[in-house]
Amino acid sequence: MGHAPLKPQTLIFSKGYDPRLSEGAAFPPVFRTSTFLFKSAEEGKRAFEIAYGLRQRDPGEIPALIYTRVNNPNVEMVEDRVVAWDGLEAAALFASGMGAISSTCLTFLRPGDTVLFSDPVYGGVEALFRHVLPLYGIRAAPFPADSDRAALEDFARRERNVRAIYLESPANPTMLLADLSAARAVADQLSTPEREVLLLVDNTFMGPIFSRPRDFGADLVLYSATKFIGGHSDLVAGLALGSKRLIDQIKTTRTLFGSNSDPETAWLILRSLGTLQLRMEKQQESARRIVEFLRGHPKVEHVAYPGLTEMGDHQVALFRRQCSGSGSLVSFCVRGAEQEAFRLLDAVREFKLAVSLGGIETLIEHPATMTHSDMTAEEKRRAGIGDNMIRISVGLEDPDDLIADLTHALDRV
Ligand SMILES: Cc1ncc(COP(=O)(O)O)c(C=O)c1O
Repeated sequence: MGHAPLKPQTLIFSKGYDPRLSEGAAFPPVFRTSTFLFKSAEEGKRAFEIAYGLRQRDPGEIPALIYTRVNNPNVEMVEDRVVAWDGLEAAALFASGMGAISSTCLTFLRPGDTVLFSDPVYGGVEALFRHVLPLYGIRAAPFPADSDRAALEDFARRERNVRAIYLESPANPTMLLADLSAARAVADQLSTPEREVLLLVDNTFMGPIFSRPRDFGADLVLYSATKFIGGHSDLVAGLALGSKRLIDQIKTTRTLFGSNSDPETAWLILRSLGTLQLRMEKQQESARRIVEFLRGHPKVEHVAYPGLTEMGDHQVALFRRQCSGSGSLVSFCVRGAEQEAFRLLDAVREFKLAVSLGGIETLIEHPATMTHSDMTAEEKRRAGIGDNMIRISVGLEDPDDLIADLTHALDRV
């Protein structure tokens, strides 16, 4: 009788590592080396051909390691293991989420191309799309994150040379889910045999535990691994996941741009993968309690959290279809404006006032003046990022203490 396929939570403890090759070390050592010895000149030649995209690897071929900017055992172990949850074939680890996103965009976009993107997106991606890609003749066209299929089709019809659709779901910081199936359908409508329109999804907020964009047709799934995947606010990293064919192309860009990660960071991520599911589930449990507290508070005007009825019928339907959980990122608006929001931010004690998210400690920030400060007032208004909006990333502290802290801080507002 055959064994049932292993679940992700089991796979991530062993895949890609043979202890016999490392003196029996139970946990992989850090392969802190810049370069690797070839067994023969022929082996070196073949490894370089693959690394520079001159040749596809043969089925089952494992190319020799070359140089840590190209590949490294710790980096490859993360790449082998992290795909377990998303159900994708291959991964590429990067020095940051922005490294993953910019390297992916510049692998596939060419002068004259257009990328459609859900609005809002993380501020750095926003700046990349609005200010940097146009310098290379690439147009980035924003559409509202909440668009349904008809709206997206209508929007896409007015654009030319679309090469990719980029979604961030849920959107940072409004927590709006993007309709992945609608975007897939539009990408298919716009694709021709010579020109494949790619669907890229930033899955940082919910993935890989509560959302699998591949099930809805994503070609590439992107992460700031700085967030839940690293999970301890002690590293910066990024990931791109997809088919081997696409990831091999992205890895060639990574090699030439030097946007690779390093063995130490990869080792820290390996350590973090074992607790990823546990952390995300526990953080979600606490976030749900905080959401209920905020929803009932008279000084809170609106709570944005996936699945809540006040997010609207379309959002609730998307949540039921696309997500297996709601995560631990919550945005809410206090009654008032910037001054009231700042009063709360300055009054909390257990919530740490800092950008970033997904770590084991609870963070709080003000999107309008921090993560999304690069947007114009009009862009923020359109995206629904008000001066009274606060974003929290719930960590692993006792939720009773977090609620007590918020109660005290809201009293100051
Ligand atoms: C949703 C999302 N995507 C991408 C990024 C960029 O990742 P990094 O800071 O690791 O470069 C961030 C950073 O906050 C983010 O929140």
